[in-house]
Amino acid sequence: MTITEHAPTTAVVGLGPMGSALARALLAAGPPPVVWNRTRSRTEELAAEGAVAAPDLAAAASADLVITCLRDHGTTRSVLDSVAPEALRGRTVVVLASSTPDEARATHAWAAERGLSVLLGAIMVPVPLIGTPQAQILYAGDADLLDRHRAVLERLAGRTEHVGTDPGLASLLDTAMLEVYFAGMTAFLHAAAMVTDAGLDATAFAARARDVLALLPETVDALAADVDAGTHPGHEDTIAMELGALEHMVAASRASGTDPALPELMRSLAQDAVDAGHGADSWSRVVDLLRRTDRVRAHPAA
Ligand SMILES: NC(=O)c1ccc[n+]([C@@H]2O[C@H](COP(=O)([O-])OP(=O)(O)OC[C@H]3O[C@@H](n4cnc5c(N)ncnc54)[C@H](OP(=O)(O)O)[C@@H]3O)[C@@H](O)[C@H]2O)c1
Repeated sequence: MTITEHAPTTAVVGLGPMGSALARALLAAGPPPVVWNRTRSRTEELAAEGAVAAPDLAAAASADLVITCLRDHGTTRSVLDSVAPEALRGRTVVVLASSTPDEARATHAWAAERGLSVLLGAIMVPVPLIGTPQAQILYAGDADLLDRHRAVLERLAGRTEHVGTDPGLASLLDTAMLEVYFAGMTAFLHAAAMVTDAGLDATAFAARARDVLALLPETVDALAADVDAGTHPGHEDTIAMELGALEHMVAASRASGTDPALPELMRSLAQDAVDAGHGADSWSRVVDLLRRTDRVRAHPAA
């Protein structure tokens, strides 16, 4: 299909694994999108499936709605900067690239300077879920812009959610949710390294780990209530008591030849809380230590 045969109003710029999935989701449920990718072969692959191959980036950027799915925000800005500014003015661009909150804010400011309307999105699911009711994409920025294009964007993800006008918010939530996931995975791997050192297998241990993970949803809700209330009553479990368990964790880690950095971090947070007079508080008190700027300064950016 060529661009002259159709007048579609949505373009997908960037056809890596994720951008291709977005283009296919649009193809599956509506008028074919215009597609463009730096490496032409990927554009041709999508065109063979029915998308409209843009002859160049400027043609893709002239769509009413331009969805970019490039490696990161820096790449997105430089790719769009290669289009004449007058071709972009007045366009709506949805940027779907992982980033830090500040990078997303920088893209928002960059767009404002060029007279572009922009929504900053964060894709919360892997490629195979795109286009399904389970897929989730968070959007930050102008809520009216999302409402105007909701019909198209809901073809990408059943769960299409505006999280706030601060352009960094979708990225912040993406990062925060990934942190919970990575911390959980890394804690499991640390524990698995210790138990396999003792001759157990990780698969058998996973069943026990799942028992602990089953407790977490309720625990997280209780921690959240304390954080929001700013109170940390140590009714049954106190940090002073938990410090003992964390010391055992560090010792067991060292004895098994497993990197103790992760349990050391938790132990030092507990010790600092006790030293600051919070030994009788619940674990949620740790949030105050994590907020301390001297701890940020102790870990300068790489
Ligand atoms: N894959 C996932 O499961 C997933 C999940 C959530 C979020 N995301 C996010 O979605 C975005 C896209 O991810 P992806 O998986 O499709 O792969 P990716 O490797 O992050 O991005 C590939 C795309 O970026 C383009 N690109 C990279 N550098 C470029 C440059 N200098 N100039 C022009 N184009 C350039 C590539 O073009 P070429 O084909 O020419 O190299 C390709 O279109 C990323 O921000 C990623 O973090 C991905």
